[in-house]
Amino acid sequence: MLTLLRSAGRLVRSTLGLDSVRFRGSTLPIKSMRFCGAHFHDDEAFLSSGEAEAKRLQKEFELAKESAVLDIGCGTGRLPIGILSIIGEIAAYRGVDVSEAAIAWCKHHIEPRHPTFRFTRIDIRNARYNPSGGRMPEHFRLPYDDACFDIIYLFSVFSHLLTPDVSTYLKEFRRLLLPTGKVFLTAFLEEGVADCEENPADYRQQWKGALHCVRYDRRFFAELCEKEGLSIEQIRYATETDGQSAVTIARTSSTAKS
Ligand SMILES: C[S@@+](CC[C@H](N)C(=O)[O-])C[C@H]1O[C@@H](n2cnc3c(N)ncnc32)[C@H](O)[C@@H]1O
Repeated sequence: MLTLLRSAGRLVRSTLGLDSVRFRGSTLPIKSMRFCGAHFHDDEAFLSSGEAEAKRLQKEFELAKESAVLDIGCGTGRLPIGILSIIGEIAAYRGVDVSEAAIAWCKHHIEPRHPTFRFTRIDIRNARYNPSGGRMPEHFRLPYDDACFDIIYLFSVFSHLLTPDVSTYLKEFRRLLLPTGKVFLTAFLEEGVADCEENPADYRQQWKGALHCVRYDRRFFAELCEKEGLSIEQIRYATETDGQSAVTIARTSSTAKS
């Protein structure tokens, strides 16, 4: 009942245009629906950061009109809004998130006008973003065919996930990536720290609330990747939001895992 009422409220707000703003030719979520910090309350900052992400994918991962992109933890569409502004429609963009409100926003404001852009809500528990969701099953599968994505993108998502969920996603990346495909993600990675620690004290800022910051030991994270047939190609240390590192991952080329 409560879920129905919430969905109805969202539909009314969307239809009346109360959950979006127009800015520089793009439709953006209202400030209160934007993720990744208060600096994105500024329309220019939000849109230009999505555009910068699209340009990064163009420059470093050959994002083009023919590409297929999977954006896990897409939030209220920062990356797809940026892609549409810089490149226009691409062959396939798939956005996935645990947040019902975020996916409802993207479905209402992006999907109908851009049919190759589709959004899927998964009801997986995240103590910060979807506390009432179910546990991620060990054999979790996203609803996409094997080897169908050129780019898998997760900005500031592994920074809120503990090891079991990260491992499950890594297994899925191996299945979903084209042999030439790449994963780009951001994460808190440090040398010589505990394998995985939630809200570490005296680290970058005062973390508040469940899963605000999940930090990984760099070597441990590399081992998690290797176990799933993936290899880290590059880490740019602390170049991203709040000091997260930018990580590029590819399928391990050996025949160890097929
Ligand atoms: C800090 S926000 C980043 C949003 C977006 N990637 C961006 O850069 O604007 C983290 C996002 O990850 C989503 N999320 C958290 N746990 C998730 C999970 N297990 N699977 C998919 N998305 C998840 C949250 O709902 C939220 O939208």
